[in-house]
Amino acid sequence: MDKFKIVGGTPLSGELPVSGAKNSALPALAACLLSDEPVTLHRIPQVKDIGTMQTLLAHTGARLSDTDGKVVVNAKSLDCPEAPYDVVKTMRASSLVLGPLVARTGRARVSMPGGCAIGARPINLHVSALEQLGATITQESGYVEAKAPDGLRGGTIHFDRITVTGTEDVLMAAVLARGETVIRNAAREPEVQDLANLLIKMGAKIEGAGTSMIKVQGVERLHGTEHAIIPDRIEAGTFLLAVAITQGDAVVTDCNPEHVAALTIKMNQAGADVEQVGPDALRVRSSGKLRAVDITTEEYPGFATDLQAQYMALMTVASGISFITETIFENRFMHTQELARMGANIRIEGRQAIVAGRERLGGAQVIASDLRASASLVLAALVAQGETVIDRVYHMDRGYERIEQKLAAVGAQIQRVG
Ligand code: EPU
Repeated sequence: MDKFKIVGGTPLSGELPVSGAKNSALPALAACLLSDEPVTLHRIPQVKDIGTMQTLLAHTGARLSDTDGKVVVNAKSLDCPEAPYDVVKTMRASSLVLGPLVARTGRARVSMPGGCAIGARPINLHVSALEQLGATITQESGYVEAKAPDGLRGGTIHFDRITVTGTEDVLMAAVLARGETVIRNAAREPEVQDLANLLIKMGAKIEGAGTSMIKVQGVERLHGTEHAIIPDRIEAGTFLLAVAITQGDAVVTDCNPEHVAALTIKMNQAGADVEQVGPDALRVRSSGKLRAVDITTEEYPGFATDLQAQYMALMTVASGISFITETIFENRFMHTQELARMGANIRIEGRQAIVAGRERLGGAQVIASDLRASASLVLAALVAQGETVIDRVYHMDRGYERIEQKLAAVGAQIQRVG
């Protein structure tokens, strides 16, 4: 298993380019199953989860080619509309194929994802929304089986709570359903909008994506198209925080500044100077002492739960006490024990972490527990005195493209060891 060896203390400087968004690329790949014509996707990040989704699409019968982030999916024949356990257990987002498969082929069999490090993460909302569109759903032997032999029909869906992949799953089903579908309390994340833009290019009729009410007029079939995935706002945010924590001065490029506004506002309040220096670039400079600033995670446009762990790393070296409240996932504080091994002073009370900033952190041996927790440990290691060894960086590889190369290019002392 690979590890990262990081020696902290070097301020980052230079340019950090952002890749395509993993959480946009995943539903976009699933959406390719909706057409029997080839769909070409650009800016697909080369990360483990994307490889897993490609394996899954190939399992269903689709043919794929991948050249440096340009992926062509040809889903002309789908003779096995199934997502097996072996694939789903390594990536929960596999449930994103449920909607497209049942919409296109009239049936889908998808393994139920188990619990995961950050929370239980059930898919009950995906299932009940698809039932509203006329699918008959049974759950047996760890699989969800959806059937709609005569096709899906439009319906009104009200999500009891906001779900990102749930909204995406049902949106992909609704585009081929007969009649109108209204999705209320829909997720407003940029990734949902990006998916809707791709589907519209494929011929779907969608209004309101990016708001909490999406309307879809079903069409008979979708056609092939080309689409470029939006920049990864979580990678962008991780880079901004990496520069700030090292007291560096660098530009994060190829990003969408609007998508990280909830973070940059907090960073400016904390004393890191983040400014937009072009349509798709943010410069961050941090020289003085950082101050503690509270955050509460929320659905977009609130503060992203996927940046909570990395923001917490910043707060461990800010002066004062910050309150970090996690409202999306029930168990997303696994990184705190590992940050504590590096000297961080954090107390957990239910859904809140109380962080008392310290002068400095010290290098230690730590273990990554999930994707964003691993990013938080990398950030802490970049500022810690001495060497940190981070174990289980395969978590990081699930969602960050060439991370050690990108960080090394701006001066970080980071090395992957086998
Ligand atoms: N939920 C249910 N039932 C459902 C679906 C969700 O109770 O059927 C609950 C979840 O357990 C959670 C909350 O609703 O407490 C919100 O979960 P959501 O469904 O929005 O999460 P997701 O769609 O499974 C996506 C991202 C996550 C990100 C969350 C929240 C993808 C592939 N994954 O997950 O990304 O944290 O939205 O923004 O888009 C990551 O990239 O590290 C990651 C975990």
